[in-house]
Amino acid sequence: MSATSIAAIRARRVWDSRGRPTVEAEVELAGGAKGRAIAPAGASRGSREAVDLRDGGTRFGGHDVMAACEHVRSTMAQALRGRDALDQGAVDAAIVALDGTPNKAKLGGNATVAVSMAVAHAAAAAMRVPLWKYLAGSGEVSLPLPEVQIFGGGAHAGRRVDVQDFMVMPVGAWTFGDAIAIVAEVYRAAGELMQEAGLLAGVADEGGFWPAFRSNEEALTSLVRAIERAGLQPGADVAISLDLAASEFGASGRYTLSLDGRELDRDAWSAMLVDWIDRYPIVSVEDPFSEDDRVAWIRFGEAVGSRVQIIGDDYLTTSAAEVDRAAFDQACNAVLIKPNQAGTLTEAHAALDAARRHAFGTIVSARSGETEDVTIAHLAVGWNAGQLKVGSFARGERMAKWNEVLRIEEVLGANAPFAGVGALPIRRRGGVLGKPPGP
Ligand code: PGA
Ligand code: ZN
Repeated sequence: MSATSIAAIRARRVWDSRGRPTVEAEVELAGGAKGRAIAPAGASRGSREAVDLRDGGTRFGGHDVMAACEHVRSTMAQALRGRDALDQGAVDAAIVALDGTPNKAKLGGNATVAVSMAVAHAAAAAMRVPLWKYLAGSGEVSLPLPEVQIFGGGAHAGRRVDVQDFMVMPVGAWTFGDAIAIVAEVYRAAGELMQEAGLLAGVADEGGFWPAFRSNEEALTSLVRAIERAGLQPGADVAISLDLAASEFGASGRYTLSLDGRELDRDAWSAMLVDWIDRYPIVSVEDPFSEDDRVAWIRFGEAVGSRVQIIGDDYLTTSAAEVDRAAFDQACNAVLIKPNQAGTLTEAHAALDAARRHAFGTIVSARSGETEDVTIAHLAVGWNAGQLKVGSFARGERMAKWNEVLRIEEVLGANAPFAGVGALPIRRRGGVLGKPPGP
């Protein structure tokens, strides 16, 4: 046993931002170093992602995680005891082998991701360096361009609007700190606009304003107005980014926009998106089609892939193999990296590596169900991902991540490279990204 050998693994049930149970794992090494991490939970999930093990039954709506916690304490603790925490690849390979299913169904993705992340925290603690530094090793680091929700929708807002995330990206910012300050002004301005319009009705699951709009497009016009009201130029200072999460309202090439009272085939829906891209300063579009609509993804990639970032989230589920397939199809040019979709850090990193080989944009992302755990802030910096998505600019579980990156920025000091607009896999034309808003 060396000082960095895993000596003990504990688990406890803690609670997430939706008040649901989730798994916290704590890893202790022989030399005394400790690491701790909490599994997040998604609401709009891809069918191929690692599944959370939930107890079912009536307690806590079936969401309890006592079985997953028990897997951590017994099977996983036993199998991993004595392994070197510095060898994350071997630890995660042992977890994958122990589970033996393609989607972590046996141990639970919530159990595996909590342990995998806690092992990394313990290793960093043993090395006496912050996690981002441990993850980077001798590689480059960067502070990410933030992607921040202003209006929440879809599965995170009782389907009040169909589109899930109306977000902004402060593409004109030169530092992470500036980027966050710009977002703060836009978020504030959006809140004032909602209040004046009599539409202020609290916030959705990720802290974005509750979308009391008459149409999906009204959220877009409101976003442009919020950017302008904050004294900023849409497209030049702040651009728009959408997560359609289209598997939530589309399947088999048909898309139902309940709020707009329209049912569209894949071509009509695609044309509507392209029209939005033409008329609004949109630089990034996530999950524009359902995960089963490969032909729509390919056509859309061909049509607008050179001018907007097209992110696969539910479509790629943080899988290296899916990233390779989408690159071959030219269906996307970016991937969302959610560690709990893969189930271990090593598998999530493999998806990031695959994306890099294809010159994809990479966005480390939180889930809609989050906690005070800030591991993803460290992943975004230490893995040099370039972009970070953690929801909106309100609620503690969201702000914990933004604030953690600010602390890392301070540690990096003058050497802090900010990924900025260069993190987007598209070219900037005439100083303005996307098109300025039309009449
Ligand atoms: P989820 O939403 O965590 O509910 O899946 C986040 C996203 O779709 O990006
Ligand atoms: Zn998404």
